[in-house]
Amino acid sequence: MCGIIGYTGKRKVRDVLLDGLELLEYRGYDSAGVALVDEKGGEPSVYKCAGRVADLRKVCQEKELAQTCGIGHTRWATHGGVCDENAHPHRFGQVTLVHNGIIENYEELAAKYHLTEKLHSQTDSEIAAGVFDWFYKGDPYDCIKQTVSELKGTFAFVILFADKPDKIYSVRNVSPIVAAKTPEGTMLASDVTAIGRYTKKYFVVPEYHVLEIDKENITLTDFNGKQTEPEYLDIDFALNMSEKGGFPFYMEKEMAEQPKVIADMLEEKTKDGLPDFSKEGVPDELFTDCENVCVVACGSAMHAGLAGQSMMKKFLHIPVTVELASEFMYNDPVVDEKTLVIAVSQSGETIDTLEALKYAKKHGAKSLAVINVKGSSIARESGAVLYTNAGPEIAVASTKAYTSQLALFCLLTARMAYARGNFTADETRAFVQDLKKVPTAMEQVLAGKDRIHHIAGRIIEAKDIFMIGRGMDYSIAMEGSLKLKEVSYIHSEAYASGELKHGPLALITEHTPVVAVATQGRLLSKEISNIREVKSRGADVVLFAKQSVIAEEKEGCFGFALPDVRDEFMCLPAAAALQLLAYYVSSDKGFDVDKPRNLAKVVTVE
Ligand code: F6R
Repeated sequence: MCGIIGYTGKRKVRDVLLDGLELLEYRGYDSAGVALVDEKGGEPSVYKCAGRVADLRKVCQEKELAQTCGIGHTRWATHGGVCDENAHPHRFGQVTLVHNGIIENYEELAAKYHLTEKLHSQTDSEIAAGVFDWFYKGDPYDCIKQTVSELKGTFAFVILFADKPDKIYSVRNVSPIVAAKTPEGTMLASDVTAIGRYTKKYFVVPEYHVLEIDKENITLTDFNGKQTEPEYLDIDFALNMSEKGGFPFYMEKEMAEQPKVIADMLEEKTKDGLPDFSKEGVPDELFTDCENVCVVACGSAMHAGLAGQSMMKKFLHIPVTVELASEFMYNDPVVDEKTLVIAVSQSGETIDTLEALKYAKKHGAKSLAVINVKGSSIARESGAVLYTNAGPEIAVASTKAYTSQLALFCLLTARMAYARGNFTADETRAFVQDLKKVPTAMEQVLAGKDRIHHIAGRIIEAKDIFMIGRGMDYSIAMEGSLKLKEVSYIHSEAYASGELKHGPLALITEHTPVVAVATQGRLLSKEISNIREVKSRGADVVLFAKQSVIAEEKEGCFGFALPDVRDEFMCLPAAAALQLLAYYVSSDKGFDVDKPRNLAKVVTVE
């Protein structure tokens, strides 16, 4: 949450910062600001406002700003409401900074360092600026080290000191910062999307190290005073993957990318027809030495875990649990050295998932992370990592990251079944061969977008919606329902079809549309009975079902035929269809599909 950028070099920094902030805006978008260092040093000029980066651009555009060093921020409010004063950067004495994270002991610090009377905002970040200023006696390293020893919480700080023009400093705990040298200067940011147009190499700033950048150099020093060499990583996605490419919204573009993302992943992670994770150094012992699996994740990633659970239980015959990472530690989880914990996360930065992973590891579990963003905190914390390689996902609502997780769970299940002897080599190859048909099925769904747009028209006026399904279809309904509520603000509830009679049927009227998902052969007859139940209570039912089912369904539900693939893989075309449904409801309502209210893409606060 919150996007940070800093640059010092030959370019006009205002443009570098504003362009970068636009790309980081998905991390938070309620206010934005920049601090630009004047050539002669002294206090940087700060421009900030509540609103979007576009509003900040207007504020900055009015002036001729030629500075070449500065920092910027786009905010997702935690402490203090959304207003100009609470926008970052915050200036306190010699210090101007931007912050991502939460300082938990901010009240204590304000009292200890007599800051309360001097504050202009309601933020914990300004208090931190006050503490940095308190300790600043001309040596940034000492100041940062002493200040950090006072802080409780998570943070990524990017700091300017008034007497160090052209230099930018940074320190972090949990909240991410990446940095890079470019041909025309050095820069840092919350993630690589903001720096990808200037460089192909970057590194993740390690926690509790002081980063100093000037126009040409990068210095990294640990808290024992030892200089360390950055571990450089490659940016391996094409630059245009973080651009809209002619689509009105990133969400539509990212949905369209899904077949290719999945086809590429299946190519990259298979060898001789079998799933193969050797390139990523994931050993089969991880799969053979465990007696149970525990998936920890949040939101859509957790829904991917639920589909994975259905597959793993079916083929591996071992206990598989899926836990909401935010609840995990508070429910006395039973994990030990026989547990394989799988942490699933697009960003790799979700704090709840990271903490759950750490907890499971502490209790002896072996760990595997399913991650999109390379070098992210969860990837670094986990014993082994499988990357989904979906490329940058900018829309807040997850689409391609989620379906790439689903596809990876399919491959993972097959490899585990093969390694554990549940599948023969031939069975595994047949499974993978069928999986490779999925990208084409997803293309067919995307080609049917006009029909789904038409279906969106049937539910657009609804206040409440139910999405129902059984087995794996229930987890798909959960994801479809999350997508709809987050981008269209319609209250949508996913329910296991068989549970309706145990309460929620009381809410079904002719004003409550029901979206039914029916893709699992062995559950169809029961699912059709449930559909009849809601229809007979007046609900308008929209059915997303396998082609063969739609053909057989005599009740005449309005619906969308999903191309037939193996039942285990139907989650992929079904997910794509429900994503389109949410997308069209939102865009037809005139909402900013990519930036739903109150949300941010990367959730680094508990
Ligand atoms: C929903 C969505 C969120 C994320 C969740 C976890 O569309 O994007 O529910 O799935 O915040 O985020 P990651 O995967 O980054 O851990």
